[in-house]
Amino acid sequence: MPRKVNHGLDYDEDYDAYDDYDDYDYDYGADGNDYENDNGNSSQQGTKVSRPRIWQCSICTYDNDESSLSCEICGIIRDCSANFDNNDKDKAIDMSKSSEASIMGKSNLTQVPSAPLQTEITSVGFPSKKASKSFGKASRDVEDATKSLASNLDHLKLNNNTMNSKKAPSRTPYKSEKWMFQDQEQGILSQLNLAIVGHVDSGKSTLSGRLLYLLGRISKREMHKYEKGAKEMGKGSFAYAWAMDESYEERERGITMTVAVAYFDSKKYRIVLLDSPGHKDFVPNMISGATQADAAVLVVDASVGSFEAGMDGNGVGQTREHAQLIRSFGVEQIIVAVNKMDMVGYSKERFNFIKLQLSSFLRSRGFKDSSVTWIPISAMENQNLVEAASDVRFSGWYQGLCLLDAIDSLQPPLRDFSKPLILPICDVIKSQSMGQVAACGKLETGAIRHGSKVLVMPSGDLATVRSIERDSSTCSVARAGDNVAVSLQGIDSGLVMPGGVLCHPDFPVRVATRLELKILVLDNAAPILIGSQVEFHIHHAKEAARVVKILSLLDQKTGQVSRMAPRILKAKQSAVIEVALDGAVCVEEYSKCRALGRAFLRSSGSTIAVGVVTRVPEPDL
Ligand code: GTP
Ligand code: MG
Repeated sequence: MPRKVNHGLDYDEDYDAYDDYDDYDYDYGADGNDYENDNGNSSQQGTKVSRPRIWQCSICTYDNDESSLSCEICGIIRDCSANFDNNDKDKAIDMSKSSEASIMGKSNLTQVPSAPLQTEITSVGFPSKKASKSFGKASRDVEDATKSLASNLDHLKLNNNTMNSKKAPSRTPYKSEKWMFQDQEQGILSQLNLAIVGHVDSGKSTLSGRLLYLLGRISKREMHKYEKGAKEMGKGSFAYAWAMDESYEERERGITMTVAVAYFDSKKYRIVLLDSPGHKDFVPNMISGATQADAAVLVVDASVGSFEAGMDGNGVGQTREHAQLIRSFGVEQIIVAVNKMDMVGYSKERFNFIKLQLSSFLRSRGFKDSSVTWIPISAMENQNLVEAASDVRFSGWYQGLCLLDAIDSLQPPLRDFSKPLILPICDVIKSQSMGQVAACGKLETGAIRHGSKVLVMPSGDLATVRSIERDSSTCSVARAGDNVAVSLQGIDSGLVMPGGVLCHPDFPVRVATRLELKILVLDNAAPILIGSQVEFHIHHAKEAARVVKILSLLDQKTGQVSRMAPRILKAKQSAVIEVALDGAVCVEEYSKCRALGRAFLRSSGSTIAVGVVTRVPEPDL
């Protein structure tokens, strides 16, 4: 599907033409510079054809237009040392002086707890929750169960010899069936997974709660209850946040700790709202939500000192880290909601100052100007949320979109129904009494229906889809983009685990303990030593984090162990590394499946590097 972006000049057309996420078979020469003309002749021979110039991303190998400062796909800044002739190199060096590095890693999953499974549920994995009564009660206190399941994965200790042995991949090409495609006549709103991210205390939960209230998802009675409760706890200003922050600890501390999931309809979308924690300690939780996002609202606190704190470059500023992370998960469209405008007297100058500062940072992280919408708001005073601002200090200079209209103006996400099923499991719900197990997550590709046979990876066992739930109601078919809870039968529940994947029986995803990764060490990250151990996250389930040992640095061209290479990787450096994991993970090479091919490394509570899987070695026979 073509993307409508308005970046100006010729850039958009190029972008549209190249922006086919799944097709890497461009007619480029091997060096990334030799285009061929229609006759298949190199344009260097014969008549001169005007050719777009390109540069190849050092991380994801995408061929970018020359005018791009950072990779269109992963946001990595242009690597000045590769894929250029000398003139290009000089230009790139000039161009990249002002920019910094960015990242990648899209994935999935929201957990939508299901009504029939609500009796004696043990929820394992992504501790999502529901934001109002109508969403039911999501189970959150799941640490023990999480640990036990995570350790199941350890105990499996799959090695390369046993992986996928139960099911060999099909040699026949995949053919989708008619039922898998959406019936355009149905007139249902398309789903948009919208992550609310940003620095701690910027007002994400207050904004989310306020939106739900304004849109009728929270009743007056419920709101009154929150107000009363918050006041009694001496935290009256958190009344709206209480709609999202459900646990006692969250309410007492006045911070969000786990992702809250809520739903509302806009004119154009069925919105799945993912209210993320902003505190640095809960970045792994934030990641669980943000990896499912199609788009994000980056909430910024306009107050003097608070915006600046969010931009702190020493690993504390979560405006920076969240923006960087969501871009790394493949989120391209964001709305920057400049909140608490009431605290700065609705000052146009303050708004413009923030816009100026933050826009250059976002640009350096790979966000295109045309994909960033700037909306000044006050969640507390209900200004510019679902209708135009009423405060004259505000409406005097701002006549642009309100937040809800900005959400409606986001481009619909691409949904790939035509590929085999891939449903990365973010969360597992078990009903001990009924012996049921449900895998929760977002369908990345393909479709699933009641009665379908699915392959549960990494175990490689078959299961049958007993029922599917989407937004708390049962449905017979779910397709790419849907967040679902899939109840399975015919499988030992211990084999269904967060970090696993449900896939088409003939098209299993790969499972590995050794990988080759192309990474970019983030700015401000401590140096990474070859031979050291760090935390490895393959996008979609934080419970699936493994310990990884960095075995060696590989030569980027030959893929061989680089003997001359330094034993240390510094901030902003990109490198190809070989790693050994302490337990098996479901992965794919990024060029084959983006959702299962993005990874990031963390150490001492911070994200230190991001990258893509470049090679999954074949199992030893
Ligand atoms: P974390 O989830 O912990 O990162 O916080 P958060 O971003 O969800 O912030 P939250 O909604 O909990 O609000 C933090 C504080 O900011 C509360 O005291 C809110 O009342 C206050 N707040 C939120 N929005 C506004 C606003 O528009 N104006 C003013 N003055 N205060 C606000
Ligand atoms: Mg919050």
